[in-house]
Amino acid sequence: MTTKIKKYFVIGNPIDHSLSPKLHNYWLKENNINALYDKIKLNENDLENFIKDIRQQKITGCNVTVPFKQAVIPFLDKLSLEAKQTQSVNTIIFKDGSLVGHNTDIVGFAKAIQGLSFNLRGKKVLILGAGGVVPSIIFALNKMGVSKIIVSNRTKQKAEKLKNLFENLKTIEWGNIEYFDMIINATSLGLNKEKINLDFSNAGKNKLFYDVIYNPAETNFLKNAKKNGNLIENGKLMFVYQALEAFKLWHEVEPKISNEIFKLLEND
Ligand code: ATR
Repeated sequence: MTTKIKKYFVIGNPIDHSLSPKLHNYWLKENNINALYDKIKLNENDLENFIKDIRQQKITGCNVTVPFKQAVIPFLDKLSLEAKQTQSVNTIIFKDGSLVGHNTDIVGFAKAIQGLSFNLRGKKVLILGAGGVVPSIIFALNKMGVSKIIVSNRTKQKAEKLKNLFENLKTIEWGNIEYFDMIINATSLGLNKEKINLDFSNAGKNKLFYDVIYNPAETNFLKNAKKNGNLIENGKLMFVYQALEAFKLWHEVEPKISNEIFKLLEND
């Protein structure tokens, strides 16, 4: 008897850089699951047909990355509470005849922060950027009980739009800096060694500087922060945890986070 191999994808544009296939295929093998995980670059007008293939179970499920986390929503039947509140889906499953959109970026970010010795309750957070992952970060920060979230984005309009999803959000002009306990780089600046054209040297010490980027492991943003006596963290653990939560949703198995995983993600 042969069982049909299950197929999973991560969809996005661009998608070349994605390390999701490496991680998922490693875990699939480790857990003896007969499935394959691949990446595929789509255009917005390919989304509907791609998701139809999940409904017909030609494709078992998928992860969704930038810039489609919101664009996939009209083609789904149900959303988890988190996906609904952030209007952001990064994992699609087919369950009991329905296409369901989940958001595991939120848990990914929360677990990554919980592992640090930095209590965010009552703290002020400044976010740089307003792209695909920012609603998930704001959702998680609110749950952690931060006192204030300020968003600064080059295109202010995009930051303003986030106010439709979240109350009590403050937006400031790109280039301005306000007092913060934690600052998050959620822009793409640093992926290709670009510098963020802002000076944080007067921000004080012992702040938490977080960069969603994990390749390179230390962006200039993090390097300078460390030099100035701050705690730094990149987005690698967030990436691993969001993948772990997606794996659990699809396979009902909790994969292991080991040194092997981190070695695997470094060899790139
Ligand atoms: P998307 O915007 O499609 O969701 P993203 O990678 O999630 O893509 O987001 C990119 C983020 O980096 C955006 O906040 C973007 O700012 P704009 O909204 O103004 O485009 C920010 N970004 C990219 N290049 C930048 C630059 N040179 N200076 C400042 N911000 C930049």
